[in-house]
Amino acid sequence: MTKISVVVKNASSSPASSLIESTSYQLGYIEMDKSHDEFVELVNKLVIADNTEFVNLFQDLQHHTEMHFCEEYLLMKKSNFPALAEHHSEHQRVLGQLAYFRARAGLGHIKLARAFIREQLPFWFRTHILTMDSALAAHLTR
Ligand SMILES: [Fe+2]
Ligand SMILES: [Fe+2]
Repeated sequence: MTKISVVVKNASSSPASSLIESTSYQLGYIEMDKSHDEFVELVNKLVIADNTEFVNLFQDLQHHTEMHFCEEYLLMKKSNFPALAEHHSEHQRVLGQLAYFRARAGLGHIKLARAFIREQLPFWFRTHILTMDSALAAHLTR
């Protein structure tokens, strides 16, 4: 059974704290687990970044997520994953959010982008791992 433990802290906790704390949400498919570890690391760096670092790191997160989703798309395509369209559509939705908040951050609306990173993204990540990515990993390792 897949064990997943992504801890999302209260948004009012110390800004120096990590939003996602986990080494145990592994899905058992090494390429996916590696991407997810890197994603968590980037989000946690964003939480403690100053405003200049934040904009650069947000761009890194956007690029990393594009790669992450592209890798999953290829895995879905190669393995004839039945929920490819639904999973891909969800990825596209999140890429749209990342593009929007990155653009806002670039225009100086850092607070708005920080709120997205702290209050929305960790919850999305946890849900996505537990549902769509978990289903994909199970399909790939069946
Ligand atoms: Fe993923
Ligand atoms: Fe995914």
